[in-house]
Amino acid sequence: MKLLKTVLMFIFSALILLVLPVDATTFKTKKPGEKIVIAGIGKCIHAYWHEVELGMKAAGRKLKGCQVRWFVPAKEDVRAQVSTFESFIAQGVDGIVIGPSNPAAIKGAVQKALSAGIPVITFDTDAPESGRLIYVGTDNYKAGYEAGKMMVKLLKGKGKVAICTGSLTALNSVQRMEGFKDALKGTKIEIVETYNDGEDKAKALANAQAAMQKYPDLDGFYGVYAINGPACAQAIKMAGKVGKVKIVCFDTTAEHMQLIKQGLINATIGQRPFMMGYKGTEILYRMVTEGVEKVLRDLKMDKLATQKRHLDTGIDIVTKENMETYRKQLLKLGIPVQGW
Ligand code: BGC
Repeated sequence: MKLLKTVLMFIFSALILLVLPVDATTFKTKKPGEKIVIAGIGKCIHAYWHEVELGMKAAGRKLKGCQVRWFVPAKEDVRAQVSTFESFIAQGVDGIVIGPSNPAAIKGAVQKALSAGIPVITFDTDAPESGRLIYVGTDNYKAGYEAGKMMVKLLKGKGKVAICTGSLTALNSVQRMEGFKDALKGTKIEIVETYNDGEDKAKALANAQAAMQKYPDLDGFYGVYAINGPACAQAIKMAGKVGKVKIVCFDTTAEHMQLIKQGLINATIGQRPFMMGYKGTEILYRMVTEGVEKVLRDLKMDKLATQKRHLDTGIDIVTKENMETYRKQLLKLGIPVQGW
């Protein structure tokens, strides 16, 4: 009888553990005003990631007791991302937001943080299978599709295009290429080759130059990452083919905007990196101070499968024609505009 009672008690406690919300059992909480450290990990040293950092720091200044720690490797470096992530866990930070260069490689570290009670979210690029609580950033497939539609329009449905990217593993790059290719279906546009530079500026330029040499009749470049559009523009300029080879790319750093003005970049998909940093920090801070469940409920994400939790920061398709309207829109959103 005693044994039966013990077994029943055991089953009962196991059941309770199963139905209790994750939040109440797993995550540590703090009060606003206590020191709350939010750590951010980007993908490479670049103006794009500097904007993300600015967004994180702006949120850090607004939120009581919030401190931001920031890391980016010089170029794509999966190992550096993983080891920094691990060291943030060891430092006992209160929340981590990461743009993983390789979603499979970060999974173990994400799981470790979550079981240590540290909420983890992704920004810029996702790792949906890692267990991260939410992804904040662009809908990359859709953005890639828009880029593809733009290319079809510019090339009037016919021609040769080279793809230049900075990663073959990061999900944002993979999805942007998928979306782009899908938008080209049924047209006479051919993708001649895909080049990867591992987010290395010198390699990005060398790749664009190699493409121009190998395909003298190239009609367009698709620049998947922030590094690529300007690198392709430089290669086109050096080959004396301005206007002959079109560029559709991503991002709106000052460098991109200058190149749009000069007519070297034909269209770019503007992301909202400042917002990714700002919202990412704010969400983690709220998860720590209000509880994960409440934040997911407030963001209407609680009923979605973990993999599907996405806070879309939005995109803007920017050309020479609409760049001034775009500037006004950014200012209205509270996003700092500098250098163009
Ligand atoms: C991407 C980032 C990338 C950055 C710099 C952006 O378009 O969203 O993932 O690190 O470009 O290359």
